[in-house]
Amino acid sequence: MPDYLEFNPSEIDRREVYRLLTGSVVPRPIGWASTIDKNGNTNLAPFSFFTVVCVVPPMISLTIARNPDGSEKHTLKNIKETGDFCFNVVTEPVWQEMVDTGNAIPEKESEFDATGLTQLAALKVKSPRVGEVPIHFECKLHNVFEFGPNKHPLVIGEVVYFHVDPSCMVNGYINMEKLLPIGRLNGHFYSKLGQILEREFEDGQPR
Ligand SMILES: Cc1cc2nc3c(=O)[nH]c(=O)nc-3n(C[C@H](O)[C@H](O)[C@H](O)COP(=O)(O)O)c2cc1C
Repeated sequence: MPDYLEFNPSEIDRREVYRLLTGSVVPRPIGWASTIDKNGNTNLAPFSFFTVVCVVPPMISLTIARNPDGSEKHTLKNIKETGDFCFNVVTEPVWQEMVDTGNAIPEKESEFDATGLTQLAALKVKSPRVGEVPIHFECKLHNVFEFGPNKHPLVIGEVVYFHVDPSCMVNGYINMEKLLPIGRLNGHFYSKLGQILEREFEDGQPR
């Protein structure tokens, strides 16, 4: 066994904690969130502190850190304003555009215009969807929880509608080789799918 390095989070600086978290919880799916404000300005930004929360009802979470001055990021402001957002799956053909949407731009400018990505209307929510990706979830805000001294916000959204490009579906499963998802690693690194491994549970039941 290795002679493990040891870290007490209360004794190391925040950047080091961030590097331990983001280097160990990998690869992370990316919650690419599209929103709109009350004046109709659209926004698109990636969040890799993102996961599935619940199946009944379907729920997902996004952790949207505050800006260094304590203000809310545009995505969070918009979600609170309209009560909704869309999650767009990040795929290989658009991963560079996804990174571009992580740049801070003025509130009234849209990352859709900056990247040339297409806005599609949603059915149940006001927020737009990204036309270039095969899967979108329309979500309604369920709750915002705040953690720690910086009131770090965790957004829980209920999925009220799913859109899936049929070319990604094979026998009722979303097919990973057709979807081509992108994950976030640490630093400036991202990942494509590697070799896909398969092993059934002993009960033989489909999942
Ligand atoms: C791949 C990737 C993942 C990111 N993950 C997060 C995250 O989980 N939480 C967060 O607050 N910011 C995250 N960011 C940074 C935000 O995307 C960035 O602050 C963005 O400008 C926020 O946009 P907004 O102010 O329009 O909401 C990430 C950036 C990239 C490129």
